Amino acid sequence: MSENPGLHELLRWYVDAGIDETIGERPIDRYQVRVSPTAVAMVPARAPVAAPAAPAAAPPPAPPRRRQTAPTLEALREAIESFDCPLKRGATRTVFADGNPRAPVMVIGEAPGADEDRIGLPFVGASGKLLDRMLASIGLDRASNVYITNIVNWRPPGNRKPTPAEIEACLPFIERHIELVAPEILVLCGGAATSALLASHEPISRIRGRWFEYTSPGLPHPINVIATYHPAFLLRTPGQKREAWCDLRAIRKRLDQGLARSKGDAGNPT
Ligand code: URA
Repeated sequence: MSENPGLHELLRWYVDAGIDETIGERPIDRYQVRVSPTAVAMVPARAPVAAPAAPAAAPPPAPPRRRQTAPTLEALREAIESFDCPLKRGATRTVFADGNPRAPVMVIGEAPGADEDRIGLPFVGASGKLLDRMLASIGLDRASNVYITNIVNWRPPGNRKPTPAEIEACLPFIERHIELVAPEILVLCGGAATSALLASHEPISRIRGRWFEYTSPGLPHPINVIATYHPAFLLRTPGQKREAWCDLRAIRKRLDQGLARSKGDAGNPT
């Protein structure tokens, strides 16, 4: 029996929740990992993700990051539902995902709002309705070819933004979620999802509309990822819809290129 039963129980709880391994002996510099620009016209020549200025003093080493290993989406949903995070205690429901888990496009937003918290599905309020219209404009809809989730699964109190610590705590879940869906294209809506998953400090106005590659140990190959404005921002700032429209067209074009490639392959078996 452990001398510290509380710690023992906590470790047991992590294992039961499917968190049974850590990665790496060393802390990961999240500003440097996972993003590599793809060679496409929209990517500028300079490095897309600026390294942060050197800190005056070395930060304390971060604890090793844990990975989620849930083998299926259902197991992941259960792990998330049994995760005891402070955000969850203030929310009514866990908001997992909506749409087709086999879809070629996975959209990731920030956090559930009041409507999502009430209904238990992502993007069902005013910004969700705009998101649906945006997706429909390029032939996408959650009933058939889009899968939608958020970077955190619970509504922050008063609809505030999730804090960096809350996002960090939920990151293993969204990383595993992406691995399990393994879409062709990942669309990050807004700054929170973008900075967390692209490990970038660039403002969304600068990073949106450019293609990157998202990699993760559980993915067989990198995924095309693009960031765009959050629909809630577009509702407040309709003048930016033009840029969001450019991003949508870039997504459509990339999907069509993939389709054209697979049709070409089918027609030419050699
Ligand atoms: N905003 C988000 O980022 N996600 C939702 O699910 C709803 C609003």
